[in-house]
Amino acid sequence: MSATDIGVAVVGAGMAGRAHCAGYRAAPTLFDPPLPPIRYRAVVDADADVAADAAGRYGYERPGTDWRELLEDDDVSVVSVVVANHLHREMVEALLAAGKHVLCEKPLAASLEDAEAMVAAAASHPGLVAGTGFVYRRQPAVAAIRDLVAGELGEVSHFNGRYWCDYARSPETPMAWRYKGGQGTGALADIGSHLIDLAEFVCGPMTRVGGAAFTTKVTERAVPIGTTYGHAKAELSDVIEPVENDDVATFTAHFASGAVGTFSVSRIAPGHANSMAFDLLAENGAAKWDMDRPAELSVLRDPRGDGLDGYNQVLVGPSLPYLKGGVPMDFPGVSFGVGDLFGFQARAFLEQVAGIEGLPPVAGFADGVRDLTIIDAVRRSAEQGGAVVDVAR
Ligand SMILES: NC(=O)c1ccc[n+]([C@@H]2O[C@H](COP(=O)([O-])OP(=O)(O)OC[C@H]3O[C@@H](n4cnc5c(N)ncnc54)[C@H](O)[C@@H]3O)[C@@H](O)[C@H]2O)c1
Repeated sequence: MSATDIGVAVVGAGMAGRAHCAGYRAAPTLFDPPLPPIRYRAVVDADADVAADAAGRYGYERPGTDWRELLEDDDVSVVSVVVANHLHREMVEALLAAGKHVLCEKPLAASLEDAEAMVAAAASHPGLVAGTGFVYRRQPAVAAIRDLVAGELGEVSHFNGRYWCDYARSPETPMAWRYKGGQGTGALADIGSHLIDLAEFVCGPMTRVGGAAFTTKVTERAVPIGTTYGHAKAELSDVIEPVENDDVATFTAHFASGAVGTFSVSRIAPGHANSMAFDLLAENGAAKWDMDRPAELSVLRDPRGDGLDGYNQVLVGPSLPYLKGGVPMDFPGVSFGVGDLFGFQARAFLEQVAGIEGLPPVAGFADGVRDLTIIDAVRRSAEQGGAVVDVAR
C-alpha cells in the first residue's frame, strides 16, 4: 500500500452491497479533482458464492466470508457495511476500533439504542469518517428543490411525501431479516427512513409527529431454502414464521419552520415497484418530484393568479447538482439512474477520507440517529393511538 492509496472493502454483497461495490468503482471516474489511487481490496459476504460473484464482477481483489479478517488488514482503510440492520452495530464498532472509515447503510441500526452507541463509538474516533447511506440526498432533482426552498420558494407550508413499494406484496416473498423486529422496523424503517431523511433534508427539522398508524397484511411467510438476498423469490420451505413489523405506516409531522407534513409508506403497494415522491407547497410556489421519473422535477414559481399559472416540467441536466462531471455524458436530456447515486455517494465519502473538499459530505451517524429518533417517535405515536409526540425523547 502506498501512503496515499485508499483500500476499499464492502461487507454484504446482497442487493445494496452490489450498489456499493459498483459505486466505489465509479467514484474515481467522476468529478474533479482526482482522487488518490483507490484499491479494491475485498468483498465479504456470509455466503461464499455471493462474495465470489460480486468480487469477480466488480473487480475486487479477494472475496471473503469473515468480516473480522478486515480488522487486521492494513490494506483496507474504508469499509461499507451493507448487511441486515441488526448486524450493523457490532461490525461498525469493531471496524472503527480497528481504525477503518465506515460507510454504514440506513437505517443506521435496528434500534435507536444501537444507533446511539454507534454515534458514541464514532465520536471516540474523530479522525475517522463515519457515514450513513442516505443515498437519495444525491438525487439532482431533490438537491435542486432543496436549493429552491432555501431561495425563491420561501417558507414551506406543507410537505406531502410517500414511499410505496411492492416488494412484500406477495405472500410468496420469503421470510427475511426485513420482516423481523417490532412495529416501526418494517416498511417505516426500511424505506420510510429515506423519505424522513429527505423531508428534513429539504424542510429542516421535525419537532412533533402524530396520527401514526401501522398495518400488517401479510402476517406470516415461509422461510426460504438456501440463501436469498434483496427481495428475490426463492424456493420455500415448510417452516412458516410470523411477520413482526409493518407493511404500511402513515403519520403526520410538524416542522420547526411551521410547516406540516403528511407521510405514507408501504411495501405492499400494487403497481409501485420503488416509488418515492413528494409535493412541496411553499410561500412563493411549489415543487414536486417522483422517483418513477427521477430525471424530472416540476416547479411552480411565483404564481400570479391570472389563470395562466402551472407547473414547469424541468428535465434534470448538467446545470443542476451532481450531473456535471457526474455521468459519462453530462449533456442535457441524458439521464441517469439510482446506480449513479451510489457513485456520487462513494465519491463524496472517499473525498472526505482523502481530505478533499468537493461534493457535499455524506450524511453522518448523527443523521442516522436523527432518522431513528423520528421513527421511534412515530412508533410511540402509533402505540398511543396516534397521539402527538415530541421527536426528541
Ligand atoms: N440505500 C438504499 O437504497 C438501500 C437499498 C436496499 C438496502 N439498503 C440497506 O442495506 C442493508 C442491506 O440490505 P440488502 O437489501 O442489501 O440486504 P440483502 O439481504 O440483499 O443482503 C445482505 C447480505 O448480507 C450477507 N450477510 C449476512 N450476514 C453476514 C455477515 N455476518 N457477514 C457478511 N455478510 C453477511 C447476506 O448473505 C446477504 O448477501 C440494509 O441495512 C438495508 O436497509 C439500502
